[in-house]
Amino acid sequence: MAPVSASGASAVRFPRGFLWGTATAAFQTEMGRGRNVDCNSDWYAWTHNAANLASGRVSADKPEQGPGEYALFRQDARLVRHNLRSNAFRFSIEWSRIFPRSTAAVHVGSRITVGDLRNLDKLANHAAVRHYRAELEAIVRSRMTPFVTVNHFTLPLWVHDPIATRDALANVGLNDSLPAGLKRAGWLDPSTVVEFRKYAAYLAWKYGDLVRFWLPINEPLVVVEGGYVNIPGPPGGGSFPPGALSARAAVAALQNLERANAAAYDAIHRFDRHARVGLVQNMVAFTPANPGSAADVAAAKDADYLFNRLFVNAAVRGVYDANGNGTIEPSERHPSLAHKADFLGVNYYLRGRVAAAGGPLTPVIPAFDFLPQVAYSWVQQPGAPRCPTTCSDFGSEIYPQGFEQVLRTAGSYHLPVYVTENGIADGSDARRPAYLVQHLLALRRAMKRGYADVRGYFHWSLVDNFEWAAGYTPKFGLFSFSPTTLHRRARPSAFLLRSIAGGDAIPAELVRRYGG
Ligand code: FCB
Repeated sequence: MAPVSASGASAVRFPRGFLWGTATAAFQTEMGRGRNVDCNSDWYAWTHNAANLASGRVSADKPEQGPGEYALFRQDARLVRHNLRSNAFRFSIEWSRIFPRSTAAVHVGSRITVGDLRNLDKLANHAAVRHYRAELEAIVRSRMTPFVTVNHFTLPLWVHDPIATRDALANVGLNDSLPAGLKRAGWLDPSTVVEFRKYAAYLAWKYGDLVRFWLPINEPLVVVEGGYVNIPGPPGGGSFPPGALSARAAVAALQNLERANAAAYDAIHRFDRHARVGLVQNMVAFTPANPGSAADVAAAKDADYLFNRLFVNAAVRGVYDANGNGTIEPSERHPSLAHKADFLGVNYYLRGRVAAAGGPLTPVIPAFDFLPQVAYSWVQQPGAPRCPTTCSDFGSEIYPQGFEQVLRTAGSYHLPVYVTENGIADGSDARRPAYLVQHLLALRRAMKRGYADVRGYFHWSLVDNFEWAAGYTPKFGLFSFSPTTLHRRARPSAFLLRSIAGGDAIPAELVRRYGG
C-alpha cells in the first residue's frame, strides 16, 4: 500500500530499476579556478573572441571560472550517489581534449579496424584518455550507470574555426548559396562527419568495458538553430558558433549532423558489443499563440514537426525531409540512415507559443512558416516580451503539462525513452521544488497513460555551470559552487530529488504540496 498523507494524497511510485541522475557537459563544468583549461575547442575561441564580446553576442563570463569538475569528479560522483541517492550519471567527453590535433591523417575504410584505432591512439592525448577512464571508474564503482555524451555542442578547433566561419558567412543572406571552399567549417563541413566517426569508434574501443549507454550528439536542432538561424526569439539564436543567419547553412549542418549520428551509431556498436546508442532531442512543447486561430494551430504543428520530429524521423525511420516541406519525396527515403537509435533521450524545459507568419520565412525551408516565442524578458534581455505566466530566471515559460505532450511524441517512435535533461534556471530555488515535482508527476502520468516507455530521468544540472553564451547568470544547479574554493552547496531542491530518487517515489507530502 502506498503511504497516504493526512490530506489523502498518495505517494507516486516509479518502477523498480528506474534510473535517476543528473546531467552535465564537459565545456560547461570541467574548468574551474583557471585550471584544467582546454583552449582547443570552438566554444573556447567563441567565448574569448573580442568582436563577440564587444557585440554582446557572448557574456563576459569565462568558462575557466566554472565548477572545476575535471579535478573534482570523484567528489561529484559521491554527491550524486550519496547526497542525491541516485543511480545514474550523465556527462560528456570533450573531443578537443582527447584529440587536440587533427585525426585526418588516419585513413579508415568502410569498416574501421583495430589497426585504425591504434593509429588514432598515437594521436590521442593520453592524459585526457586516462582522465575520462578514471571518471568512468569512479561512477561505476559508486554503483551508478554512466550515460556518456560523445558531443555536447563543442568541436575541436581543428574541426571548426568559428571565427573564420562567422566572418565567411557574415554577408551571406538568408536564402543565398554558401560560399565555396569553406575550410574547418564545423557541421557545414562533410569532413566533420568523417572525423566524428573515428572519434566515436575510438571512445567505444577505449571505454566500451565501462559504458553501455552512449549519446552521440546532444540536441542537433539547438546546434542548428543557435548557430545558423540568428533570429530574435529562439533561445541562443545567433549566439552559438558560428552565429550565422543562413537557411542553406542550417539545412547543410542538419544533414551532416544526421549523417554523423548514423556513422557514430554504427562505429560505437562495432567496438562496444553491449552498447545502447541513443539520440538526444530537445523537445519544446509548442502551442498555438491563439488557440482559436486555425493558422496558429497549423503553425504550432509545423514548429513541432521541424524542431521536435524531423531529426528523429531520419534517425529512426530513415526518412529525411531535406527540403523541409513537410512531405517525404522518394529521394528523401534513406534506409541506410534508419534504425540509428536504440532509445530516445528527451531534453525538456519549456513551452513555445507559436504564431503563424503568413507564409514561409524562407523558400529553402517551406515548413518554416511560423514565429516561435520561447524566451521572455530576463536580466540579460530586459527588452524581450513579458512572461505571460511563470518563467525561469532565463526567461523560459514553465509548462509541466507540456512534458506529457512531448513524451507522447517521443513515445510514438516505439523506443525506450530516457529524459536526459530537465531543469530550471532558478538562483533562489524558489520555483525549482514545484518545477521538479510537477514535471515528475507529468512524466509519471505519461508513463501510466502509455504515452512513452520512460526508463530514467536526469536533472539538469548537478551544479551551476557555464550556460553557453549567457555565462553564469542562469543557475541550473541542484548545487551552487564557490568560484574561489569550488565548494558545492546544496540548494533545498537537492534534498527533494534525494527523497524521490532514494525511494523511487514522489512522497505523499510532496504530491500534496505541489500536485494541485
Ligand atoms: C540544454 C543544453 C545544456 C544546457 C541546458 C540548460 O539545451 O543541452 O547544455 O545548456 O540546455
